[in-house]
Amino acid sequence: MSALPEILIRDMGFDDVDAVVALERASYPFPWSEGIFRDCLRVGYYCCVVELDHLLIGHAAMSSGAGEAHVLNLCVDERYRCRGIGGALLEHLLEFAQSVGASDVYLEVRPSNTAAVRLYQSQGFTQIGIRKGYYQAVGGREDAVVLRRKMGKPRR
Ligand SMILES: CC(C)(COP(=O)(O)OP(=O)(O)OC[C@H]1O[C@@H](n2cnc3c(N)ncnc32)[C@H](O)[C@@H]1OP(=O)(O)O)[C@@H](O)C(=O)NCCC(=O)NCCS
Repeated sequence: MSALPEILIRDMGFDDVDAVVALERASYPFPWSEGIFRDCLRVGYYCCVVELDHLLIGHAAMSSGAGEAHVLNLCVDERYRCRGIGGALLEHLLEFAQSVGASDVYLEVRPSNTAAVRLYQSQGFTQIGIRKGYYQAVGGREDAVVLRRKMGKPRR
């Protein structure tokens, strides 16, 4: 793995949505639509993007409330994977969760998505359940593994 490049992680804006959707379509077999990203921004979910030399190479979305946060999306351009960018983006989301007082962070992941499962486990997420047939899949449905990361008390 090469060293983590000089990336910038910043808030996503409506102007970013076209580039985010292009990356989303290239990254997932069942990508989110433009409307979903716009809705996330409208309702005030925390959405951010990763830039490298002004090029958008990653995005993420997280909802939060009532002492919990939920990672909804986390994506890195295929050409820039395995360099620590996904890990940096996840750390960024965890810092955001901590800053809004979330004591638990949840997410769902396809068990077949080995890269994502390992990434989450490496950052302290543990399995707390299975959602049967949660995901659309080629030729049917796929279960989701539900993971949780407990957050420490915020530093003062
Ligand atoms: C999951 C994803 C965000 C990881 O991004 P990334 O930038 O490659 O991740 P990192 O380089 O920070 O890797 C961090 C850790 O994840 C794990 N990991 C990442 N890619 C992996 C792979 N191909 N195989 C096995 N483990 C992998 C490793 O534990 C790695 O740590 P290590 O390099 O010290 O072993 C990226 O593969 C992606 O965007 N996939 C498509 C979208 C997606 O599936 N998102 C998750 C939805 S739940």
